[in-house]
Amino acid sequence: MMKNKTVLITGVTSGIGKAAAFSLAKSGASLILLGRSEKKGETICRQIKQKTGNDKIKFYKADFFLMKEVKSVAEKIINEYERIDILINNAGARFLDHKFSDEGIEQTLAVNYLSHFFLTELLLGKIKNSSSARIINVSSGTHYNGTGVIKNIISPEMYNGRQQYADSKLAVVLYTYKLAEQLSGTGIGVNARDPGVVATNYARNNGLLNWMKHRIYGLMKRQLLNSKQGADTIIYLASSEEVNGVTGNYFYKRKENRSSELSYDKALQKQLWDFSRELLHTK
Ligand SMILES: NC(=O)c1ccc[n+]([C@@H]2O[C@H](COP(=O)([O-])OP(=O)(O)OC[C@H]3O[C@@H](n4cnc5c(N)ncnc54)[C@H](OP(=O)(O)O)[C@@H]3O)[C@@H](O)[C@H]2O)c1
Repeated sequence: MMKNKTVLITGVTSGIGKAAAFSLAKSGASLILLGRSEKKGETICRQIKQKTGNDKIKFYKADFFLMKEVKSVAEKIINEYERIDILINNAGARFLDHKFSDEGIEQTLAVNYLSHFFLTELLLGKIKNSSSARIINVSSGTHYNGTGVIKNIISPEMYNGRQQYADSKLAVVLYTYKLAEQLSGTGIGVNARDPGVVATNYARNNGLLNWMKHRIYGLMKRQLLNSKQGADTIIYLASSEEVNGVTGNYFYKRKENRSSELSYDKALQKQLWDFSRELLHTK
């Protein structure tokens, strides 16, 4: 079923995205892999080709902190591919330190949410060329802690990395529901998913202690998954016939789940959409 599909995955240089890329390559799909490190990306591309025998795989570099890089990679993809059947918006991280780009956008908001909003918008023409496209947005159970006020935080004093991560993942769910509504009737399925607690490089950018804490938390809950298990619902949403026509849902362990109350707030969804367009105004 996947042999004739073109799949784009972001954040393939590690963890869940890497595991998803291996699995989808095995099923014969053509893969467009995105990551911020050319060296890591090319190595993974080579490893996947060697281990799966699938050579329809290409890596593109883009740092999702910067909208100009998102735009430039989207332009390359638009020139090189006729259609995209499955878009997997997976790249993300929790950043405990505040960082603000020259483009005027805070890092957590940019990497976890805005870059994917922008990429999807830029590629929508190619996605619409597919007869049964699917968009899969990776959120997190942490979104339940989101305040509903999605902010572009300018000053380090106002920044709380944990809260901003939760809010960025709530933004992913709000956006998923709004996009699903906008695309209803087109046949394009748009869903969000929560991977659970997965032993990846997640939190490693914040030091060894934070990385270990994340794993210990998963172990204590007896819910620590490996990367392959963490990618399972992505593979399910990308390839299963069971989700044909399913859109505007939040998935956990292959099942539709209720997301936070705030995520269903239509006014908030619209507010986030307008705010995102405003941030991208000149990009
Ligand atoms: N692990 C968990 O328990 C868990 C739970 C809930 C949700 N999630 C979500 O699952 C997704 C995958 O995370 P993971 O667990 O697989 O973590 P991971 O192993 O750290 O992988 C994250 C991926 O995102 C990429 N990335 C980070 N910053 C980027 C940037 N500025 N530009 C482009 N790519 C960037 C990383 O690239 P580099 O290799 O260059 O760093 C890496 O490929 C994330 O959205 C995360 O928030 C994870």
